Amino acid sequence: MTRVISDLPADVLPRGLAGVPVAATEVSDVDGQAGFYHYRGVDPTTFARTGTFEDAWYLLHFGELPTAGEREAFAAKIRAAMTMPPVLRDSLPAIAALGPPGSMDVLRTAVSAAGVAIGCRPWTEQDMPLTEAQMFTLAALTPVLTAALYRLARGQTPAGPSDDLDFAANYLRMIHGADPDAARVRALETYLILAADHGFCNSTFAERVIASSGADMGAALSGAIGALSGPLHGGAIDRVPSMLAAIGDVSRVESWLRDRLDRGERLMGFGHAVYRTLDPRNTVLREVAREIGGERIALAEVVERTGIALLNERKTDKRREANVELYAGVVLDYAGVPEELFACTFPVARMAGWTANLMEQIADNRIFRPAARYVGAPPR
Ligand code: ACO
Repeated sequence: MTRVISDLPADVLPRGLAGVPVAATEVSDVDGQAGFYHYRGVDPTTFARTGTFEDAWYLLHFGELPTAGEREAFAAKIRAAMTMPPVLRDSLPAIAALGPPGSMDVLRTAVSAAGVAIGCRPWTEQDMPLTEAQMFTLAALTPVLTAALYRLARGQTPAGPSDDLDFAANYLRMIHGADPDAARVRALETYLILAADHGFCNSTFAERVIASSGADMGAALSGAIGALSGPLHGGAIDRVPSMLAAIGDVSRVESWLRDRLDRGERLMGFGHAVYRTLDPRNTVLREVAREIGGERIALAEVVERTGIALLNERKTDKRREANVELYAGVVLDYAGVPEELFACTFPVARMAGWTANLMEQIADNRIFRPAARYVGAPPR
């Protein structure tokens, strides 16, 4: 008998699937009421100021923080996977020319090309270790591609990674063509650790949907970048610095923010789909920003206080706070990441969580094929 989907009651249609579990995961989770998130049970804010990005990546994949020896071996494995296949290197100038430097769209295209170049095939038609190696290579290549695309767009030749540097330092090295100083690496490391994963967010869901059809790792990971690039998700990181620049001075904060809200626009760096209290990533990045100091940070703090007050004055159904993006730009700027690359630095970090999620999806796959309640014209 045909199931009449349009007879499903309206309450089975939560908009945006908000709060609806669609999979079981052991990778990471977010408790929006408590303002807490974790990777495999470990709170990343406890090691974000002191650990390395390799720690977060290793934890997300293997379920434990690495020992010193494991960290070193893992960092070496990442470095070894940072070599671009010649066919990809040769195609990169054309890909860089497709759009503005630092655009996530260009990076998404390059990751898709990288998937083809390293021979990604439907994971259902190849061995699991090969699929795992391919997703790992794509994750390791993401900072390489990001930096190379940026340099090519500026008429510079790509700069390779150094065998003596770890992931975060190598990312800065490949952007600038010179070894970075330790304080800047530390700031970047903190951001990368905090951004490595975040529960079943929009882009994670998107890549798992793609992989669930058996599609290859290049398809899933470039799709994840596509989802992340939207202004309501990771695309907000780009828009916060321009918001701060447009406000310009603390005297203009309230009128500027009010005006945006009066026009029905969203304040970038505020609100979250899950958090109903402080975003713990924002708390750590604000702390780093305060230590950096400067006029821009003072302005960001006034914007934060005023934005929260205005949002909660206008909408009282639930609490809204600032999110991870508000201080991310300030911290990345200090770290020496050019503003054009703020957006792409997000997927550079998130590849760690995305690939852990893909492993989980593949290990226990069923194709995602939800239903919709048909509300259109009756059959005729
Ligand atoms: N500015 C203005 N209004 C807001 C904001 C905001 N930043 N955040 C929520 N609201 C209002 C919306 O207008 C919306 O009302 P409407 O449906 O009548 O238009 C309502 O509050 C929705 O509230 P929530 O249920 O709390 O949020 P939702 O889950 O729908 O959206 C989102 C969450 C997309 C993050 C939203 O807060 C937003 O657009 N923020 C600005 C963009 C941003 O900073 N994104 C980064 C998020 S963090 C990340 O993805 C890494």
